[in-house]
Amino acid sequence: MNQTTSQHHAIPVIIDCDPGIDDALALLLAAGSSEIGLRAITTVAGNRPVQTTSHNARKILDLAGLHEVPVYAGAQRPLYGSEARCNLVHGEDGLGGVQLPEQRPIAGEHAANALVRLLQDAEAGSIELVAIGPLSNLAMAELLAPGILRRARRLLVMGGALRVPGNITPTAEFNFYADPLAADIVMRSGAQIVLFPLDVTHQAIMSADWIASFAGLGTRCGTAAAAMLKAYAELDPLLHDACPVAYLLQPRLFGEEACELQVDWRPGATEGYALARFFHKRRGFAPNVQAATTVDNHALLALVKQKIDTLS
Ligand code: BDR
Ligand code: CA
Repeated sequence: MNQTTSQHHAIPVIIDCDPGIDDALALLLAAGSSEIGLRAITTVAGNRPVQTTSHNARKILDLAGLHEVPVYAGAQRPLYGSEARCNLVHGEDGLGGVQLPEQRPIAGEHAANALVRLLQDAEAGSIELVAIGPLSNLAMAELLAPGILRRARRLLVMGGALRVPGNITPTAEFNFYADPLAADIVMRSGAQIVLFPLDVTHQAIMSADWIASFAGLGTRCGTAAAAMLKAYAELDPLLHDACPVAYLLQPRLFGEEACELQVDWRPGATEGYALARFFHKRRGFAPNVQAATTVDNHALLALVKQKIDTLS
């Protein structure tokens, strides 16, 4: 199949992200998958401030040779609260100190406006919207144009801790903690949602050998991936953000459960807590989320490696 034909059949995907090293790996996985047609990247304040995550997204796309995919910078802070809640798990620069060139200017439109426009212009139910950072941009799009998220085919969201402890507070996972109100708005949007909480990403464990094997690929992308992952794995050796992209390629790697889910957005000890109810047999059970709760980690690691191996 030639490039034009394969792009024509590719799944149209937008990725909202906050690179972040595991975000960077998710972008490389998407870039290396001919099944995926990346329409746009939107960025948000999360792991690092939005200026940094926007630069990083552009660097990774350029590294992967995706010079035509636009990057729209978005929310600088959560819907509620005056400052972004960043972390240093991915280093000061968000990419573990790995130097990468950046060759192009940022797109002028705000990410939330771009999401509204792209979802409006596309055929309803065609776009897969992958969200692997705080959900501020998606919630802003929903506030700007109520019902817009339901135009996506699905939202594939990394966030939340359902039956396991959080990674920021005892109850909250980072992406939900960083903008709990946005997370609740998105969960209640009525869109088709597949959630990848810590319950499943804690099973997506990178081994030191697997990380080192990227250096052996002898490619620009492999060398950069090995260096970034080595820095990241010292603090968080988990492939959180690659999970939703891998799901687009091979959904059967994951086990899913339906649940009713809401997010505690009230400031206080439990903000960002994802309250999930799994009462399958209860009358009136009205799930709003499909939660991935298991993954075949061996197959996941093989898939990620195989796709990144196709990049130069
Ligand atoms: C999430 O938080 C971030 O640090 C990662 O990029 C991932 O999206 C995991 O809790
Ligand atoms: Ca992320």
